[in-house]
Amino acid sequence: PWSAERAMTIVADNRHLRGALLPILHALQEEFGYIDEEAIPLLAAELNLSRADVYGVVSFYHEFRREKPGRHIIKVCRAEACQSMGANALVDHIKKQLQVDFHGTTADGSFTLEQVFCLGNCALSPAVMIDEQLHGRVTPERFDALAAEART
Ligand code: FES
Repeated sequence: PWSAERAMTIVADNRHLRGALLPILHALQEEFGYIDEEAIPLLAAELNLSRADVYGVVSFYHEFRREKPGRHIIKVCRAEACQSMGANALVDHIKKQLQVDFHGTTADGSFTLEQVFCLGNCALSPAVMIDEQLHGRVTPERFDALAAEART
């Protein structure tokens, strides 16, 4: 869970870096899985920035999550090789099955859906990553099986 104290340690460890805001935001997301609302005023005060500046950076970069993610992260590749192997249809299927859009989390908190552009698995497209596990040649049926297995 979010901890202001832990966040302060992360700030202290990274504030010497050039353009410290971005590395700090990455480290916070790594630690907590998202950028908590409370981090905005905290970072503004610590780095001598306005809240609007911090907020602007967080919303500019789509990789920063503003809400607590689900227990599992599903990343679907939408780059060219995967697209040519049906990634768009797979994406439609996944969104419908999970009832979420990109960046969204399922109602039961199991999954957060993200899109990525190449998972380095082009030879086995379409590719999907669930947590740290990479899957190739993912058909809609295969996706359903993988999701059922991962769902907690
Ligand atoms: Fe999808 Fe490379 S394009 S893994």
